[in-house]
Amino acid sequence: MISTDLKHSKINPKEFENPALWEKVAKTHKIIRDQSTGIENAWVELPNSIKSDEIKRINDTAAWIRKNSDVLLVIGIGGSYLGARAGLQLLANWNSFPIEFLGTSFDAVPVVKFLEKYRGKRVCVNVVSKSGTTMEIIAVFDIIKTQMKIPNSHLIFTTDASKGYLREMAAKDGITSFIVPDRVGGRYSVLSSVGLLPFATAGLDINAIMQGARRAHADLNKEKNEAYKYAVARYIFHAQHKKDVEVLASFYEKMDAVGWWWQQLFSESEGKNGRGLFVSPMIFSRELHSMGQYLQEGKPLLFETILHVKKPPTELLSNLNNAAYLGTVKAHSDAGVPVVILDMEEISNASFGYLIYFFEIACAMSAYLIGVNPFDQTGVESYKKNMKELLKIN
Ligand code: PA5
Repeated sequence: MISTDLKHSKINPKEFENPALWEKVAKTHKIIRDQSTGIENAWVELPNSIKSDEIKRINDTAAWIRKNSDVLLVIGIGGSYLGARAGLQLLANWNSFPIEFLGTSFDAVPVVKFLEKYRGKRVCVNVVSKSGTTMEIIAVFDIIKTQMKIPNSHLIFTTDASKGYLREMAAKDGITSFIVPDRVGGRYSVLSSVGLLPFATAGLDINAIMQGARRAHADLNKEKNEAYKYAVARYIFHAQHKKDVEVLASFYEKMDAVGWWWQQLFSESEGKNGRGLFVSPMIFSRELHSMGQYLQEGKPLLFETILHVKKPPTELLSNLNNAAYLGTVKAHSDAGVPVVILDMEEISNASFGYLIYFFEIACAMSAYLIGVNPFDQTGVESYKKNMKELLKIN
């Protein structure tokens, strides 16, 4: 369960309770939930629509990977990578089965390092790409497959049900594959096989993750809920208080990648038509020693959202971390910075599933409130197109 605390937000209750705004929220809630319109919102139902057979197949494949290889290499980028990275960084232990990531740029150095580190080891490769055509992914996959002589038995594709190079190759060469469900865009796909296969391979309880997401689905299926409170607060900052930047701060370093995933979710969903907040994830107190001065006394263009975990994952240093949290909220709020607090009970598999769903539903609402389509990304597509033209690739 996550609750949204606006005590330090400087939003006045009258502004927040504006009936016209909440009427718009109620209408948008129906659009987001309605599965009959054909928009890219099938992720809304993923917590309930995923079949037990699919969960079993993911767990069985994960067990096979652990038995038959020394490492799982996930090749993906953007929405096909960040959710898995976020969950693994937050929930896996230091001695969990090793999972590595590549395909996140055209930089050859990480590829060469991987080749050197795992030469002679048994490598299983999970290529994740909804379109099955993303160049970073196809290029790195080709190098790894060829140079490491990966047999087809050690390849797993997670891709569209019917289209793209990976789907064709899976069909032709009999490669194990999972489906990125229709009407689920990359950045909304963590709670499908895209995230669940890497999670299960690391030994995480994916049933518990989905249980948390199901609880969020139930809690947030109302016209006024904690995720929409967060979305409405963002809207007020953006449209009425002329804030351009949102900082998402957490006090745990293992939330770094959750921040990167959140950053992609909101940036790609909202940054269009000259609108959208510029979003920036940070870890406190780490960033207080680099960005803290600006946050406290710089140009007043931002507000802060603090992702606060009520039950610390360990008692060690928890008093100091809590004092840093309370001290920061007071200092920033006293300096005039609006602060929204998202209170999360604990860090667990279930709370991670809840958190993902909470942000996804808040993001869809928030984007619709500012009048943009949360589910397209034409800006990303145009860089891909330019690059293909330069390289003379169809
Ligand atoms: O969220 C998105 O849709 C994008 O970030 C994609 O996930 C990213 O561009 C990778 O695309 P694909 O999964 O088709 O390789």
